[in-house]
Amino acid sequence: MIIALNNKSNLNKEEFLKYQEELATVNCNSTMILCASPLNIANYNLTNCYWGAQNVSTESVGAHTGEIAASQLKSYGVKYCIVGHSERRQDQKETNEDIAKKIKNLYAEGITPILCVGETKEERESGKLNAIIKEEILVATENLTSEEKDNLIVAYEPIWSIGTGLIPTNDEIEEVFKLINSLLPTTKVLYGGSANDKNIDELKKCSLIEGYLLGGLSLKPENLKVFIEKLEN
Ligand code: 13P
Repeated sequence: MIIALNNKSNLNKEEFLKYQEELATVNCNSTMILCASPLNIANYNLTNCYWGAQNVSTESVGAHTGEIAASQLKSYGVKYCIVGHSERRQDQKETNEDIAKKIKNLYAEGITPILCVGETKEERESGKLNAIIKEEILVATENLTSEEKDNLIVAYEPIWSIGTGLIPTNDEIEEVFKLINSLLPTTKVLYGGSANDKNIDELKKCSLIEGYLLGGLSLKPENLKVFIEKLEN
């Protein structure tokens, strides 16, 4: 199992240092990945998880003010990086083509991308779910070698589920996972969206889920411990 923690734009320096001390006490048989906000990456100091990032530039190192290049992430020990999170697709208007470039840049530096895909409530209700997921995956992976496709991690995060407490049924999750698996047969697929220590008992019945991308729960190490305990036992 993979447990990826997406801190989003939370935790100032002082808060992060305290958080990291708490996270250091989390025992986990799964592969845990911490994706802190960019400024906190320089303060990573954990041995129980891999170091991750939440975003990378479409460009290489050079004259791109405010951007963080994949080679810079690598130099800080980052091994995984989220790309195409729905918050960036919405707020920064990231396109599937941008995301494809980011994935290539990450692979050039040996960093594993975690590609987020998912639909809005309206897209689901109007029958566009499969088309949206398919497009997000096919465009983002168009120029990848088969080895790069094999190593990719995909996170299915229904947009209507992020931070809302609403989660799809296991049948709904399975339907999307089957679609993703049909497009990328050997890729690991995670679920993200309001997953927590209360609903993990139900979610873990879904045998296709190979891990979780956690937002809110990532900020609560004590609840995270309960989540992991329930997931792994
Ligand atoms: P929540 O777990 O807070 O719903 O966030 C999910 C998410 O967006 C992780 O990337």
